[in-house]
Amino acid sequence: MNETIKSILGRRSVKEYRPEQIKAEELEMILLAGRYAPSGMNRQPWLFVVIQNKDELIKIKETLQKNMPAPPGGGRRPHLLETAPTLIIVFGQDGASTTIHDCTLAMGNMMIAAASLGIGSNWIHAVVKDLFLFEEGKALKKEWGVSDEYIPYAAAVFGYQAKEPMYRPPRKEGVVKIIS
Ligand SMILES: Cc1cc2nc3c(=O)[nH]c(=O)nc-3n(C[C@H](O)[C@H](O)[C@H](O)COP(=O)(O)O)c2cc1C
Repeated sequence: MNETIKSILGRRSVKEYRPEQIKAEELEMILLAGRYAPSGMNRQPWLFVVIQNKDELIKIKETLQKNMPAPPGGGRRPHLLETAPTLIIVFGQDGASTTIHDCTLAMGNMMIAAASLGIGSNWIHAVVKDLFLFEEGKALKKEWGVSDEYIPYAAAVFGYQAKEPMYRPPRKEGVVKIIS
């Protein structure tokens, strides 16, 4: 099995992080991998916002917690915003039909690149779906200089994992049809 396949199969959603920041050169590689994702007509409609400021991460977590009561049995993991040192949000330029696909492919590339560097990641869907609907989220977007034409399509935390994920979600069988 080659190293790329090993990284793809070895990636897990990491729930526990060490506090130290990932190295600048590692972040650079992860972002480069994101920017080399394919995109419809090579439009590259993305904008990568990287948040490594602890206060900003806490602000995001608190905004989500304040505005979104936890569902019964949990499910959302805004606490990862408190423990993981880096959050990357991929915004996409509104308008083209492939933008959502372009941005999620970019995030997929970044998660695999991170895994190949020994860095864990975890998608945080509340950041994509909810954060920027709230006044506090809208204010953050403005503060970061992200204009209204950019829509959030992908968000994940990154950091060194504190321990091996206990659960390895099984993969479904019967999801492939080969028409030959
Ligand atoms: C679109 C999308 C949304 C997700 N949202 C969340 C989330 O909000 N919180 C979370 O902890 N994990 C989230 N995940 C991670 C999935 O739960 C995880 O990928 C899945 O259980 C498979 O586990 P694995 O990533 O370790 O292979 C999300 C993944 C995707 C692709």
